[in-house]
Amino acid sequence: EEATAKRKDAHLDLCATGDVEPAENTTLLECVRLVHCAMPEMAVEEVDLSTEFLGKKLRYPLLITGMTGGTERAGVVNRDMATLAERHGLAFGVGSQRAMAENPQAADSYVVRQVAPTVPLLGNIGLYQAVELGVDGVQRLAEAINADGMALHLNAGQELTQPEGDRDFRGGYKVVEGLVRVFGSRLLVKETGCGIGPEVARRLVDLGVRNLDVSGLGGTSWVRVEQLRASGVQAQVGAEFSSWGIPTAAAIASVRRAVGPEPRLVASGGLRTGLDAAKVLALGADVAGMALPLFRAQQTGGLEGAEQALAIILSGLRQALVLTGSKSCEELRRKPRVIMGQLKDWLEAL
Ligand code: FNR
Repeated sequence: EEATAKRKDAHLDLCATGDVEPAENTTLLECVRLVHCAMPEMAVEEVDLSTEFLGKKLRYPLLITGMTGGTERAGVVNRDMATLAERHGLAFGVGSQRAMAENPQAADSYVVRQVAPTVPLLGNIGLYQAVELGVDGVQRLAEAINADGMALHLNAGQELTQPEGDRDFRGGYKVVEGLVRVFGSRLLVKETGCGIGPEVARRLVDLGVRNLDVSGLGGTSWVRVEQLRASGVQAQVGAEFSSWGIPTAAAIASVRRAVGPEPRLVASGGLRTGLDAAKVLALGADVAGMALPLFRAQQTGGLEGAEQALAIILSGLRQALVLTGSKSCEELRRKPRVIMGQLKDWLEAL
């Protein structure tokens, strides 16, 4: 358990200041252009982005995705992020609850209900930790923080770059099946920056998964984070694979095409602006997710720093709606958009 806490702190340090977003990685959102409307015929205040997520109402279709927990420092991050979500009507997820499964005293750092009573809240556990804990164990983790849903994270790329990581990825769908039985529509399956593609998405949806976060390539790279901690073979292979993954724009567009309109789709991975969020919403996401930008703003400026960063994002998102002449996400989705270059190639192949 001490090893888990230590690793988590090293991860936070690297994410706060390290080069965890390799410059050559891209979401391919630069290949998406929303089309300007010179006569919007609407007021900014008419933009209504409210939606439903995990049975609760959101004022903005935004999720602050799971990052941390298990230490005092992590507790501050979780409470600040949850506070932001409550203030603005967003959804929030805690980071991997492995640390609290190993050490019940770490639970406090995940408990955010006191500051986020109305927020759709996600617990979080890795696929292979879920095997160890069993469905009952995972259910207890969700209950302990009074979560509305459970995020199950997939991270094969990270595990392979981690010296102490998993090496056997058999039986994953079986685990998901068991969790669907317990959590039903409250289960969300997410990647962690390498993307979920249409084939995996379809299989998960066929098993009854109702919520997916594609978490694609282009932002925080967990292969890179582990590469920065690794040495020898792992460091070298990590360098080789730090741009591995399905770019976020390709993942969300192809997954929406594959699974139809029903499943709730979150798009995250490298979204940094309100315009980025608008683009994934146009490509088929119900909710846009962000981790690193809000984490970094919080680490340098505390809650108010994160508040300022979020204000810029929300303002950009509203502006994108107005300048495409859209009052809602549904209207935005019906507007034309241009898909260029490499993204076109990806969407042809997927
Ligand atoms: C993460 N992420 C993550 N995901 C998860 O499911 N469980 C976790 O414990 C963590 N931990 C974590 C810590 C920190 C500091 C960051 C920045 C991220 C992954 C995160 O939820 C998201 O999928 C990716 O980071 C991609 O989004 P961004 O960071 O590019 O916006």
